[in-house]
Amino acid sequence: MKNFTYFNPTKIFFGRGQIENIKKEIPPSSNVLFVYGGGSIKKNGLYDQVVSELKGFNFYEFSGIEPNPTYEYTMKAVELIRIKNIDFLLAVGGGSVIDATKFMSVAAGYKGEDPWDIIIKKLPVEKTIPLGTILTLPATGSEMNSASVITRSSTNDKLGFVRAQMYPQFSILDPTFTMSLPSKYIANGVADAFTHVMEQYLTYPVNSPIQDRFAEGILLTLIEEGPKALSNSQDYDVRANIMWSTTTALNGWIGLGVPQDWSTHMIGHELTALFDLDHAESLAVILPSVMNWNRKLKSEKLIQFGRRVWGIKENSNDLVIDTAIQKTQEFFSSLGLKTRLKEYGITNEDLAQVVEKLKEHGMIALGEHRNIDLEASQKILQYAL
Ligand code: NZQ
Ligand code: ZN
Repeated sequence: MKNFTYFNPTKIFFGRGQIENIKKEIPPSSNVLFVYGGGSIKKNGLYDQVVSELKGFNFYEFSGIEPNPTYEYTMKAVELIRIKNIDFLLAVGGGSVIDATKFMSVAAGYKGEDPWDIIIKKLPVEKTIPLGTILTLPATGSEMNSASVITRSSTNDKLGFVRAQMYPQFSILDPTFTMSLPSKYIANGVADAFTHVMEQYLTYPVNSPIQDRFAEGILLTLIEEGPKALSNSQDYDVRANIMWSTTTALNGWIGLGVPQDWSTHMIGHELTALFDLDHAESLAVILPSVMNWNRKLKSEKLIQFGRRVWGIKENSNDLVIDTAIQKTQEFFSSLGLKTRLKEYGITNEDLAQVVEKLKEHGMIALGEHRNIDLEASQKILQYAL
């Protein structure tokens, strides 16, 4: 195992009724901005609960955060934060609402001209506004990590950035808040978390059996519980198991001391920005293709994955790898996700612009061996057609 340092300051309140803790966690004299999305929380009653918990605080609302949140819209909240002297941010929603709130947190105190520079020029952040979250869609892990992904729609740039100051101070993980999710978003969340685990697991062995087994445990749980959530959406235990699996898939824990390969996400982000695929839709297409393209360098872990996660008994290593890739694709299909670019109307002619965007964003040496150059990305995209 490689050396690592781990610090995760996010306090988790997991389970029914935990929302009442927000009043204890937010400093009493705070000026709070309550941030949410397109209105799902008004339909399922969570909005009313949040308003009731915020009684006694001076709070404002900012709604309408879009899936794949945009810089353009989020900047409107930054203006409001400055005008109203907001000093605590409460994000209520999925990864998009949380990521947008993280951007607000670092952008509001930025002294330079354009906070987009924080992302593209990789600037350090100074003054930030503390934030807490109430998660409604288990998927991204944003509720317990320091990453955010923001889209600049005017230029089709969807870019991730990580700053230690963006860890939420607390997150409420109440599985009952996920009961109103349509099947499509449950499936997306399971596929997203599955891919997060794969990108920290499917590289090369560094003698880290504990990390491998944490990762395999999450994968197996998602494979078992995902279909149950789709067939019986009101089962609390299933929701709870999915919720904690998706958080642990990307709170930094399973990636400690092991190599990582985020190529699927980097290529996927370009597909979302250019062709409007949901985040998880892009991953379900690209992950199997990355597994196939890099099958030689990943062979040891691919075989381990095939045998331990899918229980493949074949003797031939090549057959184990082929079957493991096929089973992964079948799993995504069983969740209702497409696994081919063509199914989204994307053709060979469209691929050049994806590669061009990767180049523009400096994604020229992806993967755990940094061997995925632009030509390799083109091949990966072609395999996925
Ligand atoms: O906006 P509302 O009305 O709330 O509706 C949302 C949205 O339309 C709906 N929804 C959320 N909770 C619901 C619900 N509908 C009914 N009942 C509920 N309980 O679901 C839709 C999708 O929400 P969104 O937040 O966009 O989904 P997700 O959580 O998958 O987030 C995706 C975003 O996160 C980024 C992605 O790139 C994408 O922009 N990611 C962030 C990461 C991070 N910060 O670490 C890592 C990920 O890999 C990912 O890149
Ligand atoms: Zn993801």
